[in-house]
Amino acid sequence: MKVLAISGSPSRQSRTAKLIDKVSGLLQEQDIETRLVTIYDFPPDALIYADFAHPTVQDFQQKVKAADGIIIASPVYKAAYAGALKVMLDLIPEGGFAGKPVLPLASGGSPGHLLAVDYAIKPVLAALKASDIHQGVFAIDSQIGKGDGGEALLAEELDLRLTQAAQDFIEQLPLTPPRARRDADTRHVISRISL
Ligand SMILES: Cc1cc2nc3c(=O)[nH]c(=O)nc-3n(C[C@H](O)[C@H](O)[C@H](O)COP(=O)(O)O)c2cc1C
Repeated sequence: MKVLAISGSPSRQSRTAKLIDKVSGLLQEQDIETRLVTIYDFPPDALIYADFAHPTVQDFQQKVKAADGIIIASPVYKAAYAGALKVMLDLIPEGGFAGKPVLPLASGGSPGHLLAVDYAIKPVLAALKASDIHQGVFAIDSQIGKGDGGEALLAEELDLRLTQAAQDFIEQLPLTPPRARRDADTRHVISRISL
């Protein structure tokens, strides 16, 4: 089972990344493989000019295709999600999230933008035909701290919400990997044709 996390933060010291780390750790404890893609994985030209033929972009599309579930994470920028996330999502072919549950994660400076996940991120996920969109987790900056050793210190309440969201997300993941599902679908079609 594979989950791909797409982080839309352009920050090297990203708070949103701490949310991904927490959820990824919980998934890994359940033997779910997690991969992370950030804008730093792309040459800027490939992103800005939406160069679909670029090998990095094709590799990204492959990772999306191979994933059983997707985590989308972004800081709130100007009352919406970060532009860095949009340029990556624009590289995904139409219907690219079909059959994949998606867990949205977001962080913002103010609780006033709590609904950014609902009004900004979710319509894009629906356009990509995500199968199940989790209600998501929104964190405010004051809930994401740093320990003396630089490690993330999440507020207890946030930690609990992330743990619950990870658990819900695991339950939304398909029980069989995409190839097995495709083969099963094909067998189903063949048996209907032969009737
Ligand atoms: C350019 C910019 C715009 C921002 N706009 C908002 C905003 O509209 N609403 C909000 O709640 N926080 C806003 N913030 C705060 C970030 O969302 C917040 O600090 C977030 O946790 C940063 O996540 P990151 O470290 O992963 O980039 C903004 C920050 C920046 C740098």
